[in-house]
Amino acid sequence: SNENVRFGRTGSISIPPPSTVDVVKKIDVNPPKGTRDFPPDEMRLRNWLFHNFRQVSQMFAFEEVDFPVLESEALFIRKAGEEIRDQLYCFEDRGNRRVALRPELTPSLARLVIQKGKSVSLPLKWFAVGQCWRYERMTRGRRREHYQWNMDIIGVPDVTAEAELISSIVTFFKRIGITASDVGFKISSRKVLQEVLQCYSIPDNLFGKVCIIIDKMEKIPIDEIKKELRSVELSDEAIEELLQVLSIKSLTKLEEKLGAAGEAVADLKRLFSLAEKFGYSEWIQFDASVVRGLAYYTGTVFEGFDREGKLRAICGGGRYDRLLSTFGGDDIPACGFGFGDAVIIELLKEKGLIPEMGEQVENIVCHLDPDLQDAAAAVATILRGKGQSVDLVLENKPLKWGNQECNPRHATTRNGGYNSVSHFKKGKWLKDFATRVRTMVEDEMEKIAGDKVKD
Ligand code: HAM
Repeated sequence: SNENVRFGRTGSISIPPPSTVDVVKKIDVNPPKGTRDFPPDEMRLRNWLFHNFRQVSQMFAFEEVDFPVLESEALFIRKAGEEIRDQLYCFEDRGNRRVALRPELTPSLARLVIQKGKSVSLPLKWFAVGQCWRYERMTRGRRREHYQWNMDIIGVPDVTAEAELISSIVTFFKRIGITASDVGFKISSRKVLQEVLQCYSIPDNLFGKVCIIIDKMEKIPIDEIKKELRSVELSDEAIEELLQVLSIKSLTKLEEKLGAAGEAVADLKRLFSLAEKFGYSEWIQFDASVVRGLAYYTGTVFEGFDREGKLRAICGGGRYDRLLSTFGGDDIPACGFGFGDAVIIELLKEKGLIPEMGEQVENIVCHLDPDLQDAAAAVATILRGKGQSVDLVLENKPLKWGNQECNPRHATTRNGGYNSVSHFKKGKWLKDFATRVRTMVEDEMEKIAGDKVKD
């Protein structure tokens, strides 16, 4: 039958000659633009990075969560004109539902918090490491698929939460060898903008839009920015005042401008004084121009940057006390950050800080005589039973190969008198090799492999 031909179970049926087979076009072996494969060496690096994300999160007593990569499109539609909206990978599924690959994790987190409702006690300290998709223009450290480490605190209204979050990022940087002379955090609060806008009686519903326009300041000419601000009904006077405030880089100057009574100055002063107690003052600086590009932030906003100015933001976050009500839930104060996997790797490369990561196998077991293949399998099983990792050599290899594979410097032809079942410690010849194998063989091998080894 055709089936038989297709699967090569030919029997008496002959395989058709090549001329009758469709010509196979070679596929493009690259992954789609902006996405990555993770061959073993890349995967080792990724695992190392994620391991550090997880360990730091656990050091701060955060619990891990995750959400589907595919979400309902509506979760990501906000009306403020964010870039992220235009970068959405969205489509209609087979059941005619509008869905999207998540560009970030925060809306899913908000969805889950609403769903859990009163069944969870606040505050929640949650972290996640997940893949996100954005149809971005590709630059160094920006791609169409990236992983983000997120930490979020839900249910804490004051800046102790922000202080704790920044402390966790600093802890992470220190662990991987990054110092305060390599990176810093620019910190501000959207309340700064809000206080300026209130002076000019700008309605609250324009606030998100204004923030999104301001966020583009480093990317597009200032005249464009002014034009966009005029289009949301800001007067020239308000625009000039806004731009002046945004250029402030010290808290003292901010206080002179806005007075000490407002929440913006009070929050920021408290955050900077907490930073002293946490011990990361040298990592942070006030910079009023930081507003971040997401519409939902309401208070503190911050971003991690490399001091040489070669890379895009390393991480970013802030307070979003009113996101839940945009999904029909009751608002709960919340703040968090997202930390991508791409920029940090670029930075580690720049600084020569990518760690050496060898293959982590403790043992190689190879049979040097085809008759001992079964016995080698039994030895591997015993070692694995003891919790050790074993690379069982499945093909027939000469002893010379085994020696080279382990470590040429330690290559010695010894097999402890046990015929040709060889057992190596990868990278280090086991001094107690003979004793250990002998004990194992005597105690356990007989039971498992029986006469084969003895013979
Ligand atoms: P975001 O500023 O859009 O914030 O992204 C956070 C971080 O994700 C960026 O600083 C960067 O490290 C990484 N990232 C974003 N887009 C890309 C990309 N195309 N390629 C590589 N890396 C990228 C958010 O997503 C917020 N949801 C963060 C947050 C959590 N705020 C509160 N909680």
